[in-house]
Amino acid sequence: MSEATTLKGLVLAGGTGSRLRPLTYAMPKQLVPVANRPILWFALDSIVSAGVADIGIIISPETGEAIKQSLYAWLETQDDEVALTFIPQETPAGLAHAVKIAEPYLQQSPFLMYLGDNLIDADLKPWCDNFSSQSSISASILLKPVDNPSSFGVAVLDETGHVTRLVEKPKEPPSNLALVGVYLFRPNIFTAIQAIQPSPRGELEITDAIQHLITSGSTVRSEQQTSWWLDTGKKDDLLSANQTVLASLARKSMDLTPELDASNTVSGFVQLGENASLTNCTIIGPVAIGDGCHLSNVTLGPNVSLGASSTVIDSTLRDSVVLDGCTLKGVQLVNSLLGYRCTLTGPAQTLPPVSVSLAEQSVLHWGP
Ligand code: G1P
Repeated sequence: MSEATTLKGLVLAGGTGSRLRPLTYAMPKQLVPVANRPILWFALDSIVSAGVADIGIIISPETGEAIKQSLYAWLETQDDEVALTFIPQETPAGLAHAVKIAEPYLQQSPFLMYLGDNLIDADLKPWCDNFSSQSSISASILLKPVDNPSSFGVAVLDETGHVTRLVEKPKEPPSNLALVGVYLFRPNIFTAIQAIQPSPRGELEITDAIQHLITSGSTVRSEQQTSWWLDTGKKDDLLSANQTVLASLARKSMDLTPELDASNTVSGFVQLGENASLTNCTIIGPVAIGDGCHLSNVTLGPNVSLGASSTVIDSTLRDSVVLDGCTLKGVQLVNSLLGYRCTLTGPAQTLPPVSVSLAEQSVLHWGP
């Protein structure tokens, strides 16, 4: 064992978010909120909790400015000093390409890399500390058994836990161990990236670069992620991420039920924003209600995140994520994802609940 070295962080927050259309026409996928906080904030929280305070953020020309503004707001929530360096990636040429362009920032430092659209529940500190103190290990990857390994990078381990093989999105997966989007590297990853070619999808794959490390004799270890991991790439993933994060907030919270006036019935965990007003509502936790929301004659929950400054009247809503500034009147929604400032009006209370996925500022009226 050698002396521990300080890790830098590298967060990949570029890309186009094509799988979360239509929402991501107007916002980067990493800023879609879960429990009323952008997904990216959870990633940054987890990096900082691992003891990393110097973090590079890969951004794209399309969404870079929005990512910057959001992370400046996140910085305001931090007690300790965190340095952020934004690194533009002109084309989405792959995860290994993002690492390559970050070399002038990372220099000779070992680093923790985190894909900004992944949500995990893990204390990364012991894993990071262990890696920092063992310079003979070139890389370490976080793995989790999954039912659909073909959708991910997949790892094969030997009996001592060393990684012997990695394949990106294999048709016939050699194991069920998926690469969670969190990695630890040393500077020899840059040499490995120099040696690889673009994959069939035209990207420089980090999976191929790690495989190159293994083939050239470097030691690659792994750590199994035992708690939840949510890839928020698609609508249903995002809704289940919302449900999981709300449930986890409910477990961690001491303050379960906020004070509401007697016209409301409340059960379960409710995260209530400032200046929210509720009248004649039935709230079934876990739910998150943002600042300045107005609700009247509403049944809300379970598993709803309602963005700030939204108004909901004469409606029922469950298992849904609603972004800031929406107006819902006389509607019944389930499993829905609404972009910023959507307007939905009924009278649809007499119809079965519907599931919708709407872009920013959509206007919808339905019912008899
Ligand atoms: C990327 C990686 C893949 C990993 C996944 C985790 O895939 O290439 O190895 O399992 O992230 O989310 P992508 O999301 O780019 O398809």
